[in-house]
Amino acid sequence: MRAIRTAQRGAVLLVAALATGLAGAPFAAATPTDSDRSRVIDRPAKQVDVPLVIAHRGASGHRPEHTLAAYRLAIRMGADFVEPDLVSTSDGVLVARHENEISGTTDVAEHPEFASRRTTKVIDGRSLTGWFTEDFTLAELKTLRAIERLPEVRPRNTRFDGRFEVPTFDEVLDLVERESRRRGEVVGVYPETKHPTYFQSIGLGLEEPLVATLKARHLNRPNAPVFLQSFETTNLRQLDELVRTPIAQLIDATGAPYDLVVAGDPRTYADLVTPEGLADIATYADGIGAHKNVVIPRDSADFLLEPSDVVDDAHDARLDVHVWTMRDENQFLPADFRIGSDPNAKGDARAEHLAFLDAGVDGIFSDYPDTAVAARDAWLRQQVAVH
Ligand code: G3P
Ligand code: CA
Repeated sequence: MRAIRTAQRGAVLLVAALATGLAGAPFAAATPTDSDRSRVIDRPAKQVDVPLVIAHRGASGHRPEHTLAAYRLAIRMGADFVEPDLVSTSDGVLVARHENEISGTTDVAEHPEFASRRTTKVIDGRSLTGWFTEDFTLAELKTLRAIERLPEVRPRNTRFDGRFEVPTFDEVLDLVERESRRRGEVVGVYPETKHPTYFQSIGLGLEEPLVATLKARHLNRPNAPVFLQSFETTNLRQLDELVRTPIAQLIDATGAPYDLVVAGDPRTYADLVTPEGLADIATYADGIGAHKNVVIPRDSADFLLEPSDVVDDAHDARLDVHVWTMRDENQFLPADFRIGSDPNAKGDARAEHLAFLDAGVDGIFSDYPDTAVAARDAWLRQQVAVH
């Protein structure tokens, strides 16, 4: 049984402290040490948990996702955590990619020496054609360069195409350590194991190298500035047995965890966020990472409805709630906050962030950590104003 609320581990801000001059101080430190905690002023005041800003695939609104440049920019923008999705190479090295099929995020198609590696596979029940990380050694993968996933939406980012390597998980951790020292506060890492059932099925399970890395870097502890996350459940239960590092169960807006589908278990993500489902998650995890529509549903015209009970029910189960994914562009925003008719133009993303913070979430995944940090800090100032 875990049930350690992140809010209890994470930064706590006294609104009186903020009002008297701590605003702008590095109160957003992830999982503070005892010396960090001493910054919390001991005087009568309302305590406010500082919601986390989690840079989704790095500052992926500004740089090609899952590159060291994207993670570095996110940290310099003030993100509390950076989020690497993890897949495996053929030689068992964890690398940061959202999918094991890499034609959408690398220049692999332009490498004639790898043309014969193009193939079709069934991944999590879906047939996919392209190039797959598990068919490349790390040395081969390192000859590729990242490209922008959404060139139509984020054309400015294409100027970075061809400049950055696919980083290993170790390289991401090294960067975070360096940037934490530079910033003078701990920045966290929120790694996601991608397609864990599939990778186990081909003898390249992600969990073993992940656990080895956590142990080698002294991150096998409940107060590590780390959340391990997955859309599947079985691997998270296994990780709970193997390490004490915090864990978050991902919850999609539709469908079911693939490991449950394979096992013939009829439970869906909706079943996982009932009070009973959340109590079960709390036996192996510390939080949930929920699709934003699970927390605030939308109507048929894409306007926000009233928040669901999920935040309250999760908190009752002593689970934190982190929502994904905030993106500044109109096409990703609820209709309430779109500006103009261009789907690729920026809308009022700050208003969306504030709606979710008002709904009580403990963290936000964002492609634009600059927007998220500004909105989170504005929300904290609002808390001061009303108390
Ligand atoms: O892990 C939180 C969020 O990143 C889940 O969605 O598909 O972007 O990995 P995805
Ligand atoms: Ca992810």
